[in-house]
Amino acid sequence: MAVLTTSGLARAFRTKRGPVEAVRGIDLTVEPGEILGFLGPNGAGKTTTLRMLTTLLPPTGGTATVAGHDLARDPAGVRREIGYVAQTGGVDPTVSVREELVTQGRLYRLARGRAAARATELARDLGLADLLDRPCGALSGGQRRRLDIALGLVHRPKILFLDEPTTGLDPGSRADLWDLIRALRDDDGMTVFLTTHYLDEADALADRLVIVDHGRVAAEGTSAELKAAYGGSPEATLQDTFIALTGRGTPRPDPAPLTV
Ligand SMILES: Nc1ncnc2c1ncn2[C@@H]1O[C@H](COP(=O)(O)OP(=O)(O)OP(=O)(O)O)[C@@H](O)[C@H]1O
Ligand SMILES: [Mg+2]
Repeated sequence: MAVLTTSGLARAFRTKRGPVEAVRGIDLTVEPGEILGFLGPNGAGKTTTLRMLTTLLPPTGGTATVAGHDLARDPAGVRREIGYVAQTGGVDPTVSVREELVTQGRLYRLARGRAAARATELARDLGLADLLDRPCGALSGGQRRRLDIALGLVHRPKILFLDEPTTGLDPGSRADLWDLIRALRDDDGMTVFLTTHYLDEADALADRLVIVDHGRVAAEGTSAELKAAYGGSPEATLQDTFIALTGRGTPRPDPAPLTV
């Protein structure tokens, strides 16, 4: 059974210059243990969708079920089952990595000893073991990103939402993170819902891709299926395919939605 479904999920914002329809009715089905790559140009509505699915932002239309809980009726149930690593994470720069991890564990009601053990375990898995006593404010960009991800994993979520997890990471750190994400799927059966602008990453990591544009699903399928359907030739790259679907840069006309 699907671990996440949405039907007509939508979000409009009121602004001084009129309504902004950030997400205009998205239907998704995500299977357990799947790595879903959620792709789309800047402003396509990816972060807005993630914020809705993680209960941080109420939808203005549609419905969703996340890890067995109805998003509107049981947001607390949803929150227990998910981890969220935001596009821009917020940690206290003055506290140590260890304190930050332990505090997160305590927020999820782990006993102090359990929270401390979990902090050590996650630090080991994410290559932060030597940095546990360093203030968060002194970490490099890549180290910070790894801490953000560790914080999202403290309570062993069923679904992990990652918004551009590898932006700013060096190639080695990125490869390590790919291995970690694959291990979460393969060893823990975790479902991973991730956005990225790195199409090589989407190609290498995601079991299935959903490409959104202008707040709608433009296409979905495996990387090979999308390349065959939209890339123009069997040798097409995912980059060619993406640009064929979403165009180059702005301004762009609002395209008619496409389906595979
Ligand atoms: N609070 C808000 N008020 C008004 N408009 C908003 C708000 N949040 C997002 N938007 C608009 O909604 C649209 C979608 O934004 P969103 O952050 O979801 O895009 P994204 O796909 O995550 O883009 P990026 O790749 O740049 O991160 C954009 O046009 C954005 O300006
Ligand atoms: Mg975003």
